Amino acid sequence: MTGSEAGAMTMDLADGTRAVLEELKRQREEGVDAVYLEQETIDDLRTALGAMETKVSSAVVPEPKPEPKLEPKPEPRPTPKPAIEEPVPSNPAPPVEVAEVKPKPIAKPVRKAESAGPSVLPPPPEVSLPEGDPDSRMSWLRDLVLACPTCNANLNPGAKVVFGVGNPDADVFFCGEAPGNDEEMKGEPFVGAAGQLLDKIISATGLTRDGVYIGNVMNWRPQHDQAFGNRPPTEEETDFCLPYLKAQLEVVQPKVIVVLGRTAANALIQPDPNAKMVDVRGRWWEFDGVPVLVTYHPSYLLHNPSLIGKRRVWEDFLLVMERLEMPISNKQRGFFQ
Ligand code: URA
Repeated sequence: MTGSEAGAMTMDLADGTRAVLEELKRQREEGVDAVYLEQETIDDLRTALGAMETKVSSAVVPEPKPEPKLEPKPEPRPTPKPAIEEPVPSNPAPPVEVAEVKPKPIAKPVRKAESAGPSVLPPPPEVSLPEGDPDSRMSWLRDLVLACPTCNANLNPGAKVVFGVGNPDADVFFCGEAPGNDEEMKGEPFVGAAGQLLDKIISATGLTRDGVYIGNVMNWRPQHDQAFGNRPPTEEETDFCLPYLKAQLEVVQPKVIVVLGRTAANALIQPDPNAKMVDVRGRWWEFDGVPVLVTYHPSYLLHNPSLIGKRRVWEDFLLVMERLEMPISNKQRGFFQ
């Protein structure tokens, strides 16, 4: 193949890939939050993305990249979930500036823990909280989770178990999906780009990060063998970690739980698996008697800098403020209008 043929092919692949990403974005803006991609399509996208990367850095790439290992097409499940939830990695490392963020490659659907981690987890732990004030109970629980052998056995090298942070007596409990790279390295939830955006939204309500409680369904970052992004946790993994989340909820006894993203919603309130995120968000659900509001994950906003996404999230936060009988100024009401 001549240099110019290779260049033309790279351009075709690049244009084609951009078109696919644009179409996915368009669908998502219309409320489609799950798509099924044939293995062949995933292969094509990987090839195209690889070609684009090679073109950009052709002068400096010393070695060919190893071929990514691809999973066989997933078996149909008895209780089907969308093959891809919010088709962007949940803990990306893009800058906080929404407008500058480029879409990242689509995370492949993974059902079972991949080769890097144990394929079978023990039964979920039973947690019996001691009596006491919220601070001492949370501190007891924190020690328990940080010492959890299964959580520790599933860590990436050099990573930490991630437990919730904030006020153990808070009115609002934010619940995310799983730590990302920044979080597993620091041992604290929501400290990366998505966390910084979450902090901004929280402060726009008049609340502070220290005044609320922030936790995740998962206490470790699901391992995977890809060079980038995050793997959504499997059902087995979220089932294992759920008792730790429930115990944190039992300590905090929040007035409202704000669930961030579809994966956490699936773990906590199990909406109809066929329901679109646009129908799940923005309304009240319940978990163990506590009102739950589901909204988009901040990573979704980082990857979808459209006004409509920001507006929807803000509308959801206004619902939370109303529920908590917080003062709402005209300025706050008018954001994104
Ligand atoms: N995304 C999550 O769901 N949780 C984190 O802690 C960070 C990013």
